[in-house]
Amino acid sequence: MTSGWLILILFCLGQGTRAQVSSLSIHQVDEVDLEQKLLRLLLRVRAEENFDTLVIYGEECVLYSMLRHSLIPTVLVSAGSTKFDWNFSSSTLILSCGSNAEREVNYRTSMKLQTARRLIYLEEDIEPETVCGNYSAREQHNIAMMKTNVDHPVTIYTCRCFQDPNYEERDLWEDRPIFIEHFRDMRGGIIRTEADQQIPRSMAYWDAKSGEEKMIGYVANLMNTYAQKVNATIDFYHLTRDREQQALYTNITRWVKEDRIDIGTTLSTSLQESDLDDLTYPFLLTSYCLMVPIPARLPYSQIYAVIVDPLVLCIIFVLFYLLSALLIYSQRMSWQGLTLANVLLNDKCLRGLLGQSFPFPRDPSRNLKLVFFILCFASLIITTMYESYLQSYLTLPPPEPSIRTFQDVGNSRHKVAISRLELNVLIAKNNSDIGQIRRDRIWVVEDSLEFVRLRNSLNDSYIYTVTYDRWSCYQERQRILSQPIFYYSLDLCFNRFLYFQIPVRRHLPHRHLFEEHMQRQQEFGLVQFWKSQSFLDMVRLGMKPMSASSQPPYIDPAIVMDDISWILKLFVAAMGVSCCCFILELCVGGVRRRMPPSATYLATI
Ligand SMILES: *[C@@H]1O[C@H](CO)[C@@H](O)[C@H](O)[C@H]1NC(C)=O
Ligand SMILES: *[C@@H]1O[C@H](CO)[C@@H](O)[C@H](O)[C@H]1NC(C)=O
Ligand SMILES: *[C@@H]1O[C@H](CO)[C@@H](O)[C@H](O)[C@H]1NC(C)=O
Ligand SMILES: *[C@@H]1O[C@H](CO)[C@@H](O)[C@H](O)[C@H]1NC(C)=O
Ligand SMILES: *[C@@H]1O[C@H](CO)[C@@H](O)[C@H](O)[C@H]1NC(C)=O
Ligand SMILES: *[C@@H]1O[C@H](CO)[C@@H](O)[C@H](O)[C@H]1NC(C)=O
Repeated sequence: MTSGWLILILFCLGQGTRAQVSSLSIHQVDEVDLEQKLLRLLLRVRAEENFDTLVIYGEECVLYSMLRHSLIPTVLVSAGSTKFDWNFSSSTLILSCGSNAEREVNYRTSMKLQTARRLIYLEEDIEPETVCGNYSAREQHNIAMMKTNVDHPVTIYTCRCFQDPNYEERDLWEDRPIFIEHFRDMRGGIIRTEADQQIPRSMAYWDAKSGEEKMIGYVANLMNTYAQKVNATIDFYHLTRDREQQALYTNITRWVKEDRIDIGTTLSTSLQESDLDDLTYPFLLTSYCLMVPIPARLPYSQIYAVIVDPLVLCIIFVLFYLLSALLIYSQRMSWQGLTLANVLLNDKCLRGLLGQSFPFPRDPSRNLKLVFFILCFASLIITTMYESYLQSYLTLPPPEPSIRTFQDVGNSRHKVAISRLELNVLIAKNNSDIGQIRRDRIWVVEDSLEFVRLRNSLNDSYIYTVTYDRWSCYQERQRILSQPIFYYSLDLCFNRFLYFQIPVRRHLPHRHLFEEHMQRQQEFGLVQFWKSQSFLDMVRLGMKPMSASSQPPYIDPAIVMDDISWILKLFVAAMGVSCCCFILELCVGGVRRRMPPSATYLATI
């Protein structure tokens, strides 16, 4: 930093060096007078808008005399270009000794100082028009000149964009401002842009009133209102007007990088782009997760199978055998009647457990009464339990198990649909979540537009990647369906904090105005409002047909014969078996006047 051509001088009061200044040579005008006027000019510029750093470009001239007045920290760049990145505050005033003194080649410095105000001291007879033209070609617009010659001791010129001639003259004593914000009124100047036509961010339509093609949507609206604010016209198809092809996101970001358009009417995510020179301040905060089909409800026909839990069934059987054995023992207070058939097919116990009536001995012993109590109590518990299960499941069938982790995604019957572009970004970012899903469970769609079409069809064979921003649109759309098909899973997120930024050309001179406008719209809740309106806008423009193709199959809450047919078939089969047994018993075992065993079999059903 201490190299010969560059001296950073932090002046304190009284540190001025008269010797240095005496070597300055000013011929035509009185040296002291000029210096006084210059000082006055600087103070006036400071009153317009404060600055806290001075940069002086070029070889020694009268501007160097300002060092003596130690206004503020000053950087001298006598070689015309800096070697270091400009890290000082942005409120800088640039002074140049001559129209060609500033030959900044350092990219970072020239970018940081692009919008700084510049005051050029011209000794020679140079037309202010060419100076303004030259600076304007470099997209540096805040220019004022101070000219001295014999006739007019000091004249001030200030450059103006969007008008002819491109400068105005000012007197030192006048109180009209020297520097203005040119881009607050662009007087119909064109903002070059390209729209990606991603519904609902920007949607083209023919405006019947003006007979022009216009754009609507929450990103397009941002551009429209900006153009209105700065009195500019906006060209949504700057490069593709005569072409058949639609500009894709990748085309737009490339054109922005190549300076072919000013602002892209599209949104870049912080995952995709990291070079902040080509992006605005974050516009929206969103998350990037999966939208998962809502788990289907169990069909009615399976409910009978589902309510019978194997473990509970085992416990009931064990209870049954225990109670049978106890019953047999307590009838005679001995194990005499204990046979396998009596325990396994104890009809009293069976009917008791199923809540049926059964013969009660005339004067039972106390033990037997106790066993009957237990039996009746168990029967009450079991029958009410199964009945409540059955009734509640028939009222609202339980859903299939839901997907909670990325491993579940791999095991579910749904595949994850993702576009090649997004997958490449996730892989490049070493995303660990996408690695947890088995590759054969991922369906990669090569074309991004094709992917969006697939997602728009709400085909529930797939799980889709989606940002919350987009999801709100699907959510809106699902409101008109008889029941929602998808839900946004916050458990399955690739990124919970994702910024949406708008691509802008790196040397856009009104970037600060655009960013300010963008933040204001967001602050006032206008963006939120536009987003909430976007579905209605789409419907109004006939963009998204409310097609029935994606309608989920209507599930009738009524139970039909089909649903219980297999239960009935089982019943008929069991009836058949018990009839056979009965006939067999009649034929083979002779007539025994006792309870027919068929009732036992019936009850098992
Ligand atoms: C300015 O900042 C950059 C990056 O932060 C750093 O590399 C560079 O050394 C800084 N320059 C000066 C002069 O401090
Ligand atoms: C304007 O720019 C041209 C070429 O870039 C240069 O030759 C000319 O000297 C410049 N004029 C002034 C007044 O700076
Ligand atoms: C907007 O620009 C037009 C020129 O296109 C100009 O006539 C008009 O005065 C400007 N409007 C405002 C409010 O400055
Ligand atoms: C956009 O880029 C793709 C390749 O990335 C290219 O095939 C297509 O022609 C471009 N579209 C336009 C309108 O230039
Ligand atoms: C991803 O991982 C590879 C090697 O594991 C590493 O070289 C690369 O820098 C990582 N990329 C990011 C963006 O972290
Ligand atoms: C959903 O996609 C699957 C597989 O691509 C296809 O078989 C099915 O017909 C689609 N469903 C609808 C409603 O389009």
